[in-house]
Amino acid sequence: MSATAVLSIREFGEFWGTASDLTACPLSGIEWRLADGLPAKRPKHTQRSALRRFALGYGWEIMPGLTQRRSQSFRFNSDRARDLAGHWMLVIGGLALEVVFSAVPSYAPPVSATGRTEINAATRFCAVFGHPVRHSASPAMQNAAITELGLNWRYLACPVHPDDLRAAIDGARAMKFIGLNLTVPHKIFALKMADKLDESAQAWGAVNTVRFEARDPKGRWLPLTRFAGEVPDNLRAVGFNTDADALARALREELHLKRLRGASVLLLGAGGAGRMAALKLAAEHVGSLFLVNRTVRKAERVATEIRRRFAGRKVIVGYPRHRVDLVINATSLGLKPEDGLPFDARQFSLKQAGAVYDMIYRPAETGLLKAAKAAGCRAVNGLGMLLYQGAAALELWSGKRAPLEPMRRALEKEIYDN
Ligand code: ATR
Repeated sequence: MSATAVLSIREFGEFWGTASDLTACPLSGIEWRLADGLPAKRPKHTQRSALRRFALGYGWEIMPGLTQRRSQSFRFNSDRARDLAGHWMLVIGGLALEVVFSAVPSYAPPVSATGRTEINAATRFCAVFGHPVRHSASPAMQNAAITELGLNWRYLACPVHPDDLRAAIDGARAMKFIGLNLTVPHKIFALKMADKLDESAQAWGAVNTVRFEARDPKGRWLPLTRFAGEVPDNLRAVGFNTDADALARALREELHLKRLRGASVLLLGAGGAGRMAALKLAAEHVGSLFLVNRTVRKAERVATEIRRRFAGRKVIVGYPRHRVDLVINATSLGLKPEDGLPFDARQFSLKQAGAVYDMIYRPAETGLLKAAKAAGCRAVNGLGMLLYQGAAALELWSGKRAPLEPMRRALEKEIYDN
């Protein structure tokens, strides 16, 4: 009795093994898989570091009749993938299988000396759309992550006028981009342009991340990274918001605010970023939220929205009289060297604050952060928020854990060394 197993390249899942394991015993992984289809546990000899840069997937089908179809993927060096390509015989208990390994360029890309894949016909794109966008550090951050993950992708920054946003999103969809980030002034306009809004975009009323998705043969919508080879037409654009969670994560991980629940917070600013921060803080059950904005009417509008959406939250427009756990700057004051402090020093003193988070990250230390440190507060700039929103976007597109440290290093180099 004989059958043929065809190994074709797919890009999902993970097989914990190394290139040398496969070369020494090229079919051991497959034989093991034929027994149960899925790896029960990670083999002892796994060397994770050896797997980092190159991802190559395979799926296998047994003929005749294509009655069985299972798939997993390997991660290993792309040169090894090419070594392995070819026909192999696999015999299991009298059942002879012909196994065909093929290395597909999109997932076994040529690799340059820097570890970055070279651009070829299989290279896929992501981009940030903004107006202006020249200042964006996202390309440096995301391309560092893309290199680290060994993806044959590139991340671009595209200057897109608001009047052209719909055409630009449609263009990216037509060109099978993996996804987009949207920055000022597009985050709200994009709400109307996505085919579907994730609940994060609905909750925070802004889209900063778009993921393009296509239907698989079973009709399920999947991110494009799940399609090896040609991507089907008729993509949809799904809108997400990763900013709000990024703020909460930065407050917890960088300012070491263990509990947002019950905390008292003074939030400065009620523009796009301020409104999002206010809603997120309310969702995190802060104890009392003081909203201050140059245009008081805008702060009142945000307070009204919070009372409507989060019944029982204590939200006050104006300065706190007593001590607060946290002050957040969501205004643009501090971007320019001549800017003053974003609050009225006659009505509030930083001695009343435990910690200060400035959403601004350029310059690294704003006047507010300097004053906060002088007043004895813990004080952190907005780089972490930029990092975490980007990491979450990358994870939505790739299905892989974002490599935070290379991303952070790339951001710091881009923003502070230039
Ligand atoms: P973003 O999307 O970054 O929040 P925005 O919506 O334009 O940008 O909001 C800018 C914020 O900075 C607003 O809170 C704005 O106050 P107004 O709502 O009164 O405009 C605040 N801001 C900008 N310039 C300011 C200034 N010179 N003094 C005080 N607040 C200022």
